[in-house]
Amino acid sequence: MTWKNLFTSSIGKKLLMGATGLFLIIFLIVHAYINSMIFYNDGGVTFNKVAYFMSRNYLMRILEAGLFAFFILHIIQGLLLWRKNQAARHLSYAIQKFPSNIKWYSRYMGWLGTFLLLFLIMHLSHFWIGTKSEMYFNGNEKNLYLEMKEVFTNSFLFALYMIGLVSLLFHLLHGFQSAFQTLGINHRRWTPIIKGIGIFYSVAICILFAMMPVSFMMGWLQ
Ligand code: HEM
Repeated sequence: MTWKNLFTSSIGKKLLMGATGLFLIIFLIVHAYINSMIFYNDGGVTFNKVAYFMSRNYLMRILEAGLFAFFILHIIQGLLLWRKNQAARHLSYAIQKFPSNIKWYSRYMGWLGTFLLLFLIMHLSHFWIGTKSEMYFNGNEKNLYLEMKEVFTNSFLFALYMIGLVSLLFHLLHGFQSAFQTLGINHRRWTPIIKGIGIFYSVAICILFAMMPVSFMMGWLQ
């Protein structure tokens, strides 16, 4: 497969979706792990220290640029695939129907991805844009822990985060296993194991993320 095919052919697009999706799956583990430092319940001292280290570290900045490139590629390819599938389904009524064994969330990956995109835009506006502009333009460090407390004790924003995390759960439930399948790992013995790991990963990561807003809202964290 040539570089051009990777971006233009159907199989190339799916491969890119799978590879970028796997990278984002790993990112979520690192992101959740670092954020979990808030559960030390020390007023954000440990969490802020780690967040400060991550944002000043050159290697992390390079990785962050890669992360955004992968996010953008994943989103663009996802939208293109979604549009193509929608067009194919309109061609004939016969292929409008999905096979009966397909889960509802697998049919709505495009919509779930769109909710997640809106969630991500809101999320970055809360925790990333202001923090980075303050750091780069004024050399100041924002207290991310206090920012989290402010956002997650607002009932409206709390509800939006919960909706975003439910969308993430269903997006991951399909995406995890689908990424391995697209990358050619389709085996009688391994596929059920990958499916099981995917369900465990999706549920565990979403519960861990959800516990963050919930803990602030319930007043469990200082
Ligand atoms: C409720 C759970 C979450 C909390 C409390 C949270 C918190 C944060 C915080 C504090 C930052 C700023 C980090 C810094 O500037 O050093 C951040 C950045 C970011 N978050 Fe989240 N996040 C959550 C869920 C998510 C989810 C589900 C995604 C992806 C779907 C995500 C994607 C990102 C991205 C892409 C960045 C910017 C890159 C980075 O700084 O690492 N976050 N988040």
